[in-house]
Amino acid sequence: MMNQDDLKRAVALAAIQYVPADCIVGVGTGSTANFFIDELAKIKNKIRGAVASSEASAKRLQGHGIEVMSLNEAGALEVYVDGADEITRHMHMLKGGGGALTREKIVAGASRKFICLCDASKLVDVLGKFPLPIEVIPMARSSVARQLVALGGQPMLREGFTTDNGNIIIDVHGLKIMNPVELESELDHIAGVVTNGLFARRAADVLLLGTADGVKTMT
Ligand code: A5P
Repeated sequence: MMNQDDLKRAVALAAIQYVPADCIVGVGTGSTANFFIDELAKIKNKIRGAVASSEASAKRLQGHGIEVMSLNEAGALEVYVDGADEITRHMHMLKGGGGALTREKIVAGASRKFICLCDASKLVDVLGKFPLPIEVIPMARSSVARQLVALGGQPMLREGFTTDNGNIIIDVHGLKIMNPVELESELDHIAGVVTNGLFARRAADVLLLGTADGVKTMT
């Protein structure tokens, strides 16, 4: 019987075939991305290095002896590999459970292909059961929260958490996200919002889904 970690390990291994020789790989954050980093370590002589979407991933990459470069020195990337908290069949994702959404969106946006790694439990019809993370400039906490209530959500401050960029995270509960592309733009227009966890305008290109019957590839 495969457990959730086995499924994550299987999709992480499957993602290696999307890593071209000699490239600089964009690397995501979270437990699934960690399995991918461990697989990447096995082919580290075939790549030039990695750009990390968080301090945690950078540390893990360096621990394996993989060179971590800044996005500014690396330039445009061939491929970005990351997990998600939820994904739909349209490849729209909800991310940021680990709080790394801003750097994830930046690195993903600089990459030609987004390979998303998920176990089957994360494939949903409608996004929003998982609370939507929003990175906010600290001084805008209450005003952003009020605007989120006006949009129909229940905002909750992620207590005791600071992002790698020195900001706070507000997790929005109770949203049924019928139009993720529209909501992503709408949330970005609230003053004080740095990034929201909807990755819909720039959806995934390939989903590697870990199921009990093996890894399914969706495009
Ligand atoms: C990190 O900020 C998130 O966007 C992650 O991609 C997400 O939380 C997935 O994490 P797991 O792979 O641990 O489920």
